[in-house]
Amino acid sequence: MEAMARPLPDALLALPHRRDVPFSKLTTLGVGGTCRWLFEPVTEAQAQAFVRTCAREGLPWRTLGGGSNLVVLGDVEAPVLRLNLSRDLARDGLEVRASASHGHIRLSQAVADLGLSGLEYASGIPGTVGGALHMNAGAYGRELVDVLVRYRFLTPDGDLVEKAPEPGEFRYRWSVVGDGRVALGLTVRLAEGDPARIRALVEDYRRRRGTSQPLSKRNAGCIFKNPPGQSAGRLIDQAGLKGLRVGDAEVSPEHGNFLVNHGAATSAQFAELMAQVRAKVLDRHGITLEPEVEIWDSHGPITG
Ligand code: EPU
Repeated sequence: MEAMARPLPDALLALPHRRDVPFSKLTTLGVGGTCRWLFEPVTEAQAQAFVRTCAREGLPWRTLGGGSNLVVLGDVEAPVLRLNLSRDLARDGLEVRASASHGHIRLSQAVADLGLSGLEYASGIPGTVGGALHMNAGAYGRELVDVLVRYRFLTPDGDLVEKAPEPGEFRYRWSVVGDGRVALGLTVRLAEGDPARIRALVEDYRRRRGTSQPLSKRNAGCIFKNPPGQSAGRLIDQAGLKGLRVGDAEVSPEHGNFLVNHGAATSAQFAELMAQVRAKVLDRHGITLEPEVEIWDSHGPITG
């Protein structure tokens, strides 16, 4: 357990927050202990006050989005920031602006309804726009940076920056926004498209995802990154690990890179299943799988 050595500063306690929220309610996977302090600013100024206060006090903290790419392995005593900004979209010609709190799938649907093409691939990627920025979310050979024209974030000191993406800032499932920065929002530039064709593409991506991934079970998406030129799911499958189970945690029989929670999986069971999969894939293929999901334990984030 993380020891909370001192009371939280008044400047934090003045911000909207909740106490003792179970991570089963905050993540799609539903594993983990309790979030002791959940801060939910409704304005960018409140988010800035949160980050500035933590920076000034030297207080470690974490950012949570939709919780769809996160495995929590215990209680978290450090303050957790979950933005609750306006979800209104702003359109200016081919450009659409959204806050980090906007749902990623909803954004994909909303721009499709406007007859704008370029985010169809995202129609099945859960989480928030902030999470998509943090991970440079992608599927089917496309990723967020392909359509991103500007993004907005807080630096670790709480300064607000809005800028165009530059080379090196976004890579496969990684972005510079993750490095202690807090995503606030983005602007994407899309293309005018035929609404019927856009809808058909959205449906096609959704259907493909639904047939290959266990979306009816609690999951955190793909658990491991695809090693260069390989598919982690196929490697796990070839190692004969589908159906491997530790308590209520199981390697999905549908897709090897999905580790699902049948309902009552504990953090320990989930950690044990991940460790077994990594060890067996290393043994069988000589490849060390790196987590694609973000992993939080009680001591701090362990990211892949
Ligand atoms: N395969 C198997 N067995 C399995 C799973 C996959 O043989 O158990 C084979 C498939 O038949 C296919 C190949 O492996 O030939 C690739 O599989 P798939 O098309 O399902 O794609 P993936 O590489 O496993 C990636 C992303 C997914 C994304 C899909 C579709 C990563 C780690 N995964 O999966 O992203 O939805 O492509 O674009 O990059 C996520 O980020 O959480 C995620 C699920």
